[in-house]
Amino acid sequence: MTSADQKKKSAAQAALKLVFPGMRLGLGTGSTASAFVTLLGEKVREGLDIIAVPTSEDTRRLAEARGIRLTTLDETPTLDLCVDGADEVDPVLNLIKGGGGALLREKIVAQASARMVVIVDDTKLSDNLGGFPLPVEVVPFGARATVMSIDEATRRHGIGGAIVRREIGGAPFVTDNNMHIYDCHYRNIPDPALLAADIASIAGVAEHGLFAGIASTVVVGTDDGVEIMGQPI
Ligand code: A5P
Repeated sequence: MTSADQKKKSAAQAALKLVFPGMRLGLGTGSTASAFVTLLGEKVREGLDIIAVPTSEDTRRLAEARGIRLTTLDETPTLDLCVDGADEVDPVLNLIKGGGGALLREKIVAQASARMVVIVDDTKLSDNLGGFPLPVEVVPFGARATVMSIDEATRRHGIGGAIVRREIGGAPFVTDNNMHIYDCHYRNIPDPALLAADIASIAGVAEHGLFAGIASTVVVGTDDGVEIMGQPI
């Protein structure tokens, strides 16, 4: 049985085939995206010339340590390719992201990219999204009222479940954007695009971790190498 780390590395290696000299890249966040950044750093050391926008301060630090030239979306507002991980992937490439708390910047970077390629190990695949609690990034001001609005909106669509503020050591988890994360334990999300629109329309929600119709390819690390979902690499 192949280890999860090896599967993540296999997916990252496959995605690296899509990187060409001169490209403007988006760099995702999390352990799988970190495997990609590490491999990309090796290519850069060998002379590959690319420029990249990181989706979190963690990824910025890792990329800098690996000698990857970084830019910002203010300097470089359009990107060729974004490579990121995911917490859950359904058969039509809808995603739940944000387990690491970076979902807002991840979505901004994905939206600025001509193509989003997702790299995961096969434990992330699911017939229906919702097994992984949906992270929602919430403005701290009025957070309790915002959470009640999220609950009301989703219950109207027959979706309900505990909404839990993410904490570290008893204190709220604070994102790179100085906001909080609420994890929504919905268990099953029948229509991800509909729920995405409903939650996004609530004032106080900075962004949510549903990525519906954004990824064009998912590279899945398996015991036998990689499988490609969506657009071929
Ligand atoms: C970060 O906020 C997330 O969206 C990550 O992309 C996601 O949690 C996947 O992380 P791993 O690759 O560590 O599982």
